[in-house]
Amino acid sequence: MEKIQYQFEYIKYSSLDELDETRKNLVKKSIEIAKKAHVPYSNFHVGAAVLLENGEILVGNNQENASYPVGTCAERTLLNYVHANFPEQKKLILAVSVLDTDQDVSPCGMCRQAILEYENLQNENIEIILHNNSGSLIHIPSAQSILPLNFNSKMLNQ
Ligand code: THU
Repeated sequence: MEKIQYQFEYIKYSSLDELDETRKNLVKKSIEIAKKAHVPYSNFHVGAAVLLENGEILVGNNQENASYPVGTCAERTLLNYVHANFPEQKKLILAVSVLDTDQDVSPCGMCRQAILEYENLQNENIEIILHNNSGSLIHIPSAQSILPLNFNSKMLNQ
């Protein structure tokens, strides 16, 4: 029998001003795009902004549907579009902002898996910065760190 322990570290900031300009700008872009989320059912606005290797920033938000399960989170709306259009560009930093809660937020399980796919593919971590309406932030070093013991392509012998 072997007991295996998993640990991960993240950083909490109390204000945007604690971030460097690059990250602050990315979070601001995620706040702006959250305002345009299509959320008639939850009224929970989420915005995401990703910084690519070439310096370009792309944004997306959650898109809900009258048939609820059809709706897509901001992270996946954005990353699927980005990878469809710029598959060769590494995704370096992903900022996610939520407008409607003061609680700390974190990507849902399905989004963690989606971010992990791209992280594994590019062989480089995707930094994740999470921002809520109180202004506090969480900085996570990678998708892998928030999805321990994950399912990935190696298990499909690929
Ligand atoms: N949502 C996101 O956009 N990202 C997440 O990581 C968690 C949840 C959205 C889905 C839905 O439109 C709303 O937030 C409420 O669950």
